[in-house]
Amino acid sequence: MPPKAAPVVIDLKFNPDEVKAALADAFPGRDVVNRADPAQAGRDLAQARYAVVWKSQPDLFARAPNLAAVFSGGAGVDHVLTLPGLPDVPLVRFVDPTLTTRMSEWVALQCLLHLRQHGRYAEQAQRGAWAELPQPEARDLTVGVMGLGVLGQDAARKLQTLGFTVTGWSRRKKTLNGIETYDESGLDAFLARTDILVGLLPLTAETRGLYDATLFAKLSRKGPFGAPVFINAGRGGSQVEADIIAALRSGGLHGASLDVFSTEPLEADSPLWTLPNCIVTPHAAAASDVKALFRQVEAQIERHEAGLPFEHLVDRTAGY
Ligand code: NDP
Ligand code: OXD
Repeated sequence: MPPKAAPVVIDLKFNPDEVKAALADAFPGRDVVNRADPAQAGRDLAQARYAVVWKSQPDLFARAPNLAAVFSGGAGVDHVLTLPGLPDVPLVRFVDPTLTTRMSEWVALQCLLHLRQHGRYAEQAQRGAWAELPQPEARDLTVGVMGLGVLGQDAARKLQTLGFTVTGWSRRKKTLNGIETYDESGLDAFLARTDILVGLLPLTAETRGLYDATLFAKLSRKGPFGAPVFINAGRGGSQVEADIIAALRSGGLHGASLDVFSTEPLEADSPLWTLPNCIVTPHAAAASDVKALFRQVEAQIERHEAGLPFEHLVDRTAGY
């Protein structure tokens, strides 16, 4: 008999029906414990070698002490790095075209909504007002993408295809065809020419609270709307919401699109829900496709068991 394949524990706070359906044909030949299934809640996890996690239960690592690797159910890992008892084993994040495509769709949509002044048309429609507004072209605006990783690079390329002038900023300088890029030291120069700022940064000690009044004040005011637009789908912990609210009220920001918040769900009484030209989505820019996630974890486990290194490893010191 061949040796038994090493077991996997799934501890995902996702839609339980979707997880159950995706598990029906995932991890063939492997014992799988789905902690979201009440029938499996008490199962022994001592033999589990791999864990797939998203906002997992706090006792996971105490109950599964023999893990060889941990897989994040999403691209971000800030929530994994703070899990109690996280073992010192490789941490792999989710990188997949399904997620990347969704994020770029959301970013492009938000840029276009602001470019085409959709908020004002929606407000006019409520009043039955037929009034054409000025139509600047995409190339009249510079979109600055903060974070040129997997998601930032794809979004930047797609925005470029739509005709926007695109620039990008990251810790280490990147080379992207037709896109002017800046490294960490070029932040002020990058901000000074940005009409629409797109945040696609991970949450780390360095990026916490980065999008604040001081940063907004450095953005360009030379664009067609006379004030910049702020779009964030990275993490809410990187933004100072009081400063966004104040800037939207004072005209320091022309508009905003926010998918992530310092507290999620966003508090019911937050002014961000109702401020004009502020678009709120419920951390839904790029949800993980759970079937694609399990396919990716399977492929990574196969690599590991064939003696190859994992892909998409998290640098724990950098925090992403
Ligand atoms: P990557 O790790 O591929 O890219 C991160 C980018 O941020 C890199 O370019 C990195 O620079 C840059 N960066 C990190 N720290 C700094 C810093 N201190 N200063 C300047 N640049 C910095 O991540 P992804 O593109 O895959 O994902 C980005 C984030 O998007 C995730 O961490 C997650 O928080 C968020 N996300 C949100 C979703 C949603 O639905 N709202 C869905 C999925 C992800 P360098 O290239 O030099 O390393
Ligand atoms: C992620 C997310 O990090 O959905 O993948 O936020």
